[in-house]
Amino acid sequence: MSDGGRPGRVAILISGRGSNMEALLRGMRSGAIAAEPAVVLSNKRSAKGLETAAAAGIPTEVVRRRKGMTHEDHDRLVIEALDRYDIDLVCLAGYMRLLSPLMVARFPDRILNIHPSLLPAFPGLDAQQQALDYGARFSGCTVHFVDEECDHGPIVTQAAVSIEPGDDASSLSARILEQEHRIYPEAVALFFQGRLSVEGRQVRIAPATGTPAAG
Ligand code: GRF
Repeated sequence: MSDGGRPGRVAILISGRGSNMEALLRGMRSGAIAAEPAVVLSNKRSAKGLETAAAAGIPTEVVRRRKGMTHEDHDRLVIEALDRYDIDLVCLAGYMRLLSPLMVARFPDRILNIHPSLLPAFPGLDAQQQALDYGARFSGCTVHFVDEECDHGPIVTQAAVSIEPGDDASSLSARILEQEHRIYPEAVALFFQGRLSVEGRQVRIAPATGTPAAG
């Protein structure tokens, strides 16, 4: 899934701690994901994950949204920054900004996001608390392609997590996070194996080379 036979190049966008970013970096370092981290970009200078990325020798960029900037103005600057790194895939990893249509159009079917619920349930902020408040018995996490709507694009993979009596947002988040760190690298690995294709809302996952087709 990369141009000209070179390794795939990933931009990771974060706003905070960056534990999913770390899971992706581990996947690339181990070779499980056939790609390399090209840049970690944040809209917040204070994002903890920036330090982690810099310590790992990965280029970092901060693109803040200044007062008066529209969504699109900000994304234009993000695109300008990403365009310096020749990116094949953008991974949102706790990036707390909705993407404008401009950004989605610049990377069609090449932006992934991880969300801590089983979409379409509980999109938006505080998904774990939403699941608890609703009284759900299961929640989980979803990796999906990004479109113009919040937490809405075609789903690549999901993992379910049961909600136990006595769970609070923090215990549930921790259990979901374990699954996030597993399925996000898996989804990105599939992308760089060229096995994902998007048809409307369906994401088809081609069998691994050498694997007989099911059925
Ligand atoms: C994760 O729960 C992710 O699903 C959500 O934001 C959180 C980011 O955590 N989109 P981290 O920064 O990856 O640790």
